[in-house]
Amino acid sequence: MRVMNFSAGPAGLPLPVLERAKEELLDYAGTGMSIMEQSHRGKMYERVHNEALEAIRRILHIPDDYAVLFLQGGASMQFSQVPLNFLSKGNIAYYIVNGTWGEKARDEARIVATREDTFAIELASTLEASTYTRAVDWKSLTVPSNAAYVHFTSNETVHGIQYAVRAGEALPTFGGTPVICDMSSDMMSRPIDVTKFDFIYAGAQKNLGPSGVLIAVAKRSFLASGTKSLPKFLQYRTHDDSASLYNTPPTFAIYLVRHVLSWIEEQGGLTAVDATNRTKAQFIYDAIAAQPEVFHCPVAKNSRSLMNVVFRLPTQADEERFIKEAQGHHMVGLKGHRSVGGIRVSLYNAVSTSDAKALAEFMGAFRL
Ligand SMILES: Cc1ncc(COP(=O)(O)O)c(C=O)c1O
Repeated sequence: MRVMNFSAGPAGLPLPVLERAKEELLDYAGTGMSIMEQSHRGKMYERVHNEALEAIRRILHIPDDYAVLFLQGGASMQFSQVPLNFLSKGNIAYYIVNGTWGEKARDEARIVATREDTFAIELASTLEASTYTRAVDWKSLTVPSNAAYVHFTSNETVHGIQYAVRAGEALPTFGGTPVICDMSSDMMSRPIDVTKFDFIYAGAQKNLGPSGVLIAVAKRSFLASGTKSLPKFLQYRTHDDSASLYNTPPTFAIYLVRHVLSWIEEQGGLTAVDATNRTKAQFIYDAIAAQPEVFHCPVAKNSRSLMNVVFRLPTQADEERFIKEAQGHHMVGLKGHRSVGGIRVSLYNAVSTSDAKALAEFMGAFRL
């Protein structure tokens, strides 16, 4: 029996994707072996690889002057690789920090900045450095003219804070300053205009596939502006020049990403996926609002994430009982991040509307 998986990541994968992989596991397309046992330079794998890249382009409407890359080391590697490539002496990097992941990205940039004799600056999102309850109002920011780039996290997975959720709101842009976005926990969950960005990155393990591969979408002219005084592997151009086959890529992960992308297209693409994701989140936020004496969401209404709904119960003991009883109903992955506690409901693409509804009903029946 499959459980209802509300984990923050690695997250559940769509059942049809797993079934297809299971069917193909021992004998991929009549080759007598699985895809992960084949050469990454062979025709069979090459096709899978290119289909995955093409599907990303198709789904996100990515123009030719943008590269799509498969990279390794997760989003955490990007926290260092981005400043290593794009920070140079005399420049600053401008980090908008709305939570844990933005902090981590900024902290890595600081290390690089010190090393490179440049400097990075930060912007804290709230008055209390450790409590993130609303997204920085990016429209009020003035980015210095010597900023090499602005970096932000579109969805803060730990704190449940997301940009541009309400109708009419846009993701941050800053005139001519390059914009870099960690989209790890909401890429492929909604339509975006990639041409507003210079560099987007996301680990696959939330909305796109299993862990082990990171997807980057980047303006080629921006990649070309990166320093050449880095080991080749750390320069993005190396991966663009070799279609992400410079070295052995995580072939099985990319194969599964391809399946997930097919599934997204079968759902009707990102407009349809976004509509479903909104319905799912509404179920949970409505269940929170319906019992204010039981549930409390600390995030300001206009910053509430569609991907990670966080809330508290009056005591830690109540929260532990909530998690335990939910588990009895085959609902798992609800424990908040260890740094903040509480409950976190992650509603990535593979979580079905019926699973979100079932959880909302369970919440509706929950009593202190
Ligand atoms: C927004 C965000 N950025 C970065 C990371 C770190 O990703 P990785 O573990 O792939 O390095 C995560 C992981 O949950 C995340 O949610």
